[in-house]
Amino acid sequence: MSRFKRMPLIERYREYLPMDENTPVVSLYEGYTPLVKLPRLSAKISDKLTVYVKFEGMNPTGSFKDRGMTMAISKAVEAGSKATICASTGNTAASAAAYSARAGLVCAVILPKGEVALGKVSQSMMHGAKVIAIDGNFDDALNIVKGITENYPITLVNSLNPFRIEGQKTGAFEICDDLGHAPVYHAIPVGNAGNITAYWAGYKAYKEAGKIDALPKMLGFQAAGSAPIVEGHPIEFPETIATAIRIGNPASWKRAEAARDESGGLIEKVTDEEITEAQKLLAATEGVFCEPASAASVAGVIKKAKEGFFTEKSDVVCILTGHGLKDPQRAIKICDPFIELPNSIDAVAEEMGLK
Ligand code: F0G
Repeated sequence: MSRFKRMPLIERYREYLPMDENTPVVSLYEGYTPLVKLPRLSAKISDKLTVYVKFEGMNPTGSFKDRGMTMAISKAVEAGSKATICASTGNTAASAAAYSARAGLVCAVILPKGEVALGKVSQSMMHGAKVIAIDGNFDDALNIVKGITENYPITLVNSLNPFRIEGQKTGAFEICDDLGHAPVYHAIPVGNAGNITAYWAGYKAYKEAGKIDALPKMLGFQAAGSAPIVEGHPIEFPETIATAIRIGNPASWKRAEAARDESGGLIEKVTDEEITEAQKLLAATEGVFCEPASAASVAGVIKKAKEGFFTEKSDVVCILTGHGLKDPQRAIKICDPFIELPNSIDAVAEEMGLK
């Protein structure tokens, strides 16, 4: 279907989602994100792998969160809710703010102060959410949101809301529809662990429906300073430049482990340096600009390729969860500074080595 004939995501996959006849559809025409084959990057990292990225940065608010949010906000409206709230490292907040605005709901977002990328904060503010930054990290913010929604009639739209996970399953459906099968490996960054949970559920639902024959192995990657699942215990003070996944106690911890174990996959960690290198490589060799957390998926695949993990010819889909423009400050920091010259043809020609 052409991009210009797209329908709301939850209409497109209606039969796989908890849609009732009367469920209102709150949509910004999310989904249909490109699955991009990366021949140059594949050749660089392995002679066994065909690497694809699913560029979720192409969603309306620039991240995968829109898949779950269209479902969660539609269900909130169906239930008669008037207000939403979430804790967020930035992307959930941006998406909740946008879809709440679209539905005419009041939205509040609780953010870890000083740890949210600029683009994301600007989105929540522009969409008219009440933006509250707390002296604490994401895990603290999530505890506040749980406390609020237990005591007041406000809809929680973090991935603890089951409709979020339901909507996010559509990412797996799109990959299978595009490839004609499930990939052998599915690589994904892991933060609060909702997305790995959702993709695994999506692949299983498609297999049950007879749409695919085989399931992928799930490869989850956490940032080294924020890798509770890898370390086997919560991290009290998580750290990483990939602020989107700066999370020490993921809500869907057990379900992420189940996805790993049922699929015969793994959850490992990548360093901030490996993340940065992968982010730059994607942008400079393939023209795909993702945010740091997203690059954890590709960084993980590169690391495993170096270790000789991939022994047979196979395809891998890496989920690029958010757009690079979400965090322009970080991008500028990791690149060489640009050149400043006088207003002169000669000066520019000389700098370019033309004279
Ligand atoms: N990548 C990006 C860009 C994210 O924003 C997130 C999560 C993840 C990966 C990890 O996904 O939590 O489902 O394992 N961001 C949340 C937020 C926490 O508040 O925006 P996950």
